[in-house]
Amino acid sequence: MLLTIPEILSKDEVQQFKQHLLSAPWQDGKLTAGGQAIHVKANQQLDGNAELTRHLSQTLLTRLSTHPTFISAALPNKIFPPKFNQYQHGGHYGLHVDNAIMSLANGQSLRTDVSATLFFSEPEDYEGGELAIETQYGAQEVKLNAGDLIVYPSTSLHQVKPVTQGSRICAFLWVQSLVRDSQQREQLFELDQSIQVLTSERGADDYEVKRLSGIYHNLVRSWSNC
Ligand code: NI
Repeated sequence: MLLTIPEILSKDEVQQFKQHLLSAPWQDGKLTAGGQAIHVKANQQLDGNAELTRHLSQTLLTRLSTHPTFISAALPNKIFPPKFNQYQHGGHYGLHVDNAIMSLANGQSLRTDVSATLFFSEPEDYEGGELAIETQYGAQEVKLNAGDLIVYPSTSLHQVKPVTQGSRICAFLWVQSLVRDSQQREQLFELDQSIQVLTSERGADDYEVKRLSGIYHNLVRSWSNC
């Protein structure tokens, strides 16, 4: 499932982030590329150890951790703190799959089940730079408004096409989900969204709403692997 979640950040918040990001210490993205990625990665990334990066990352992490649609879609067990990247001057990231396991700062590891990209640049700020994600229905090209987030399975082959004009700044992150299987996660998301609609129509005390909520929780109980 590819899911766009609009307006994770307001336009004002995007501007505040961008002011910080534009004055921040960018480094060659190849420094953090592993395995096959080093051959296909041509972008810049914020120094993850810089105080500013940690602050921006934490702010975004807090926002996502409390966002009901993001929680419903990703069912996070652990979230890798967001990183920031910039593509310009033909920068691109060729077709790849993200590493399956990432190391967290606390020494734990995180299995990447869900990937997400949040756009800080408006689509008209740059040429190219589409995030192209391979799905069973063919490649889907994604280029969102600033402040919007795309969520997709980490198992997907994907690429960022060359940015031929302007600059594309994004944040990206990974989630280890409570539910590893993407089809099971998608069904839980669909069920949860319907329950939310029915709850607003019938009220939380409605018997059928309670019964469906019970099925939702029992499916999570069956399918979660934390
Ligand atoms: Ni990637």
